[in-house]
Amino acid sequence: MQATTQLIHSIPVDPLTGAISVPIYQTSTFVQEAPGVNKGYDYARTGNPTRATLENLVAQLEGGHTGVAFGSGLAAIDAVIKLLQSGDEVIAVDDIYGGAYRLFEQVYRKFGINVTYVDTSNPEAVFNALTPKTKLIWIETPTNPTLKITDIQAIAKIAEVGRAPKSEGRHGSDGKILVCVDNTFASPALQKPLSLGADLVIHSGTKYLGGHSDLIAGLVVTADAELGQKIKFLQNASGAILAPFDSWLLIRGIETLHLRIRQHCASARAIAAFLENHPAVDKVFYPGLPTHPGHSVAARQAKGFGGIVSFTLKVDTREAAKDFVTSTGLFKLAESLGGIKSLVSHPATMTHKTIPEAKRKAAGVADSLIRLSTGLEDTEDLLEDLRQALDRIQVGSGQVLDNAVIAG
Ligand SMILES: Cc1ncc(COP(=O)(O)O)c(C=O)c1O
Repeated sequence: MQATTQLIHSIPVDPLTGAISVPIYQTSTFVQEAPGVNKGYDYARTGNPTRATLENLVAQLEGGHTGVAFGSGLAAIDAVIKLLQSGDEVIAVDDIYGGAYRLFEQVYRKFGINVTYVDTSNPEAVFNALTPKTKLIWIETPTNPTLKITDIQAIAKIAEVGRAPKSEGRHGSDGKILVCVDNTFASPALQKPLSLGADLVIHSGTKYLGGHSDLIAGLVVTADAELGQKIKFLQNASGAILAPFDSWLLIRGIETLHLRIRQHCASARAIAAFLENHPAVDKVFYPGLPTHPGHSVAARQAKGFGGIVSFTLKVDTREAAKDFVTSTGLFKLAESLGGIKSLVSHPATMTHKTIPEAKRKAAGVADSLIRLSTGLEDTEDLLEDLRQALDRIQVGSGQVLDNAVIAG
């Protein structure tokens, strides 16, 4: 049986009523026969049957042992960081999602957890950044928004080698180094980091898994039972659970994930090719382009190149970018990605505004960088929308041509 068929039919039919859609158990507590004698659930923060169905589904989807569903992607990231202790160090991808950066820098640094940001697409840089205190390597691949690709297998190998005792030198940690992959951009329809040696996967379920821009959710999937228990403990202790209705919505989204991703990828590929040939465009970032530095790694570790395309303008100013993002019609200007409707965003002033300018630019997030999330509209319509918006940017001057002037 093919994976998609298996996935769809792993969602159980309700044994009580035969309902083909998972029931939403909208309850806070569960009646017990006697103290501690119950039907597997006692209190809905600890566990809820609708959430449990989602958690099992996503664990299966990622090929992991345990899935845990949170109230947001950031809550999922937060739970993974809470596996650490004061004094531990993290190596993280340099163009990390802005919210994760804020969490590391403005919340956890004051608890004594220090993060070094390196270009994880260069495994040697990761190896050189290891210290005896390194306990976690944090990867996004592709990254948000420059779509940098990291070789997950190579990083997992480095983490393994780095688990040498302190006495063996600078590049040895004095304990296990966990590898966590934020798989939000690829989605498990394309990439399964646990099969490549990662210990944990996190998702902003808000994006491709949900797929309809109608919920906020996060997921952690662990490779083994022990880590799964730890994350479940942290979730129950901290309480950032996903509600039953949102769990149901996310299950419904996952049911069509593979189908949607196919179309997202097809449109993104066409858009990347179009942008490469447009005179107003400077650089195009899409791992599916043979010119992308991570192309061969992405082709090896993922089944497709995803639905996100980023690009910079020849006129590398915030103003030019603003002109573009306010000129598209089908691509709606909004944070987020991975939904049915196409979205456009300007990372320097939106998702990445919390990252200091020098750090942001060093990570490739230029002033004019624009990120597109291709939706499920007709590809030709999307291309036409981009064409008309780009035609408004005057190459080289940074000014927008007034349509009336062009017509005249
Ligand atoms: C790559 C990535 N990871 C995590 C998150 C955080 O997810 P959420 O917004 O669901 O908290 C985002 C949000 O944009 C993201 O793009």
